Amino acid sequence: MTVPALDAFIAEATARSRLQADAADCVLALAPLMLDLIDQARTFLQPQHYRSSAAGYTRNLIFDAPDASLSLYAIVWLPGQWTPVHDHGSWGVVGVVEGVLEERSYVRLSPDRGADEEIDLARGGTVLLRHGAVTSFVPNPDHIHVTGVPMERSRAVSLHLYGRTMSNFNIYDVAARTRRRIEVAHNES
Ligand SMILES: [Fe+2]
Repeated sequence: MTVPALDAFIAEATARSRLQADAADCVLALAPLMLDLIDQARTFLQPQHYRSSAAGYTRNLIFDAPDASLSLYAIVWLPGQWTPVHDHGSWGVVGVVEGVLEERSYVRLSPDRGADEEIDLARGGTVLLRHGAVTSFVPNPDHIHVTGVPMERSRAVSLHLYGRTMSNFNIYDVAARTRRRIEVAHNES
C-alpha cells in the first residue's frame, strides 16, 4: 500500500535531520512537518497503529530507518496510562492526533556528570496537548518528563518522531535519586 503523505514526511524529515547537526535546529526544522503530518494522519494510520493494551500505553511502530537514525511511532494512551519519569537521549518531535496528551516536566537540579546516582529532580510544569498540537525536546541537558492521560480523560493517540530507534531510554526513581536504562517494547507495523 502506498501512503504518499507518510512517504513524503519520512523523506523530508530524513533530509532535514541530516542537514541539521544541532538537535535544537533539527526540531525547529521538523516541527512544522509534524504539524502537517497530523492533518494527514487518517491517510496512513492503519488499525494496527491504534493497538492498545490494558497493561499500559502502547507503542506501535510506523517507521524505523535502516540506519537507525530516525523512528516514528503511534502511541496509544488509554485513560490512566502514564510513562515512568524518563528521558530519551535524543531529540524528539511529538504531534497529537486524538484526545489530550499531558506532559509533566521535571527539572534537574544536580549537575549531570553522567552518573546514575545522586540525581536531584524537581517537579516542573505541565502542558496539555490537544489534537493538532506539536511539542519537541532535545537532549544534553536531557528533557525529563512523564507523559500520559489522566483517568478522567478519554483515549489519546500521538505521533512520536525520534532521532534514533527508540528501543531504550533512562527511567528515573525520583525518591531514590537514581536512574537506569530500560528496554522498551513496541509493536511492529
Ligand atoms: Fe518521552
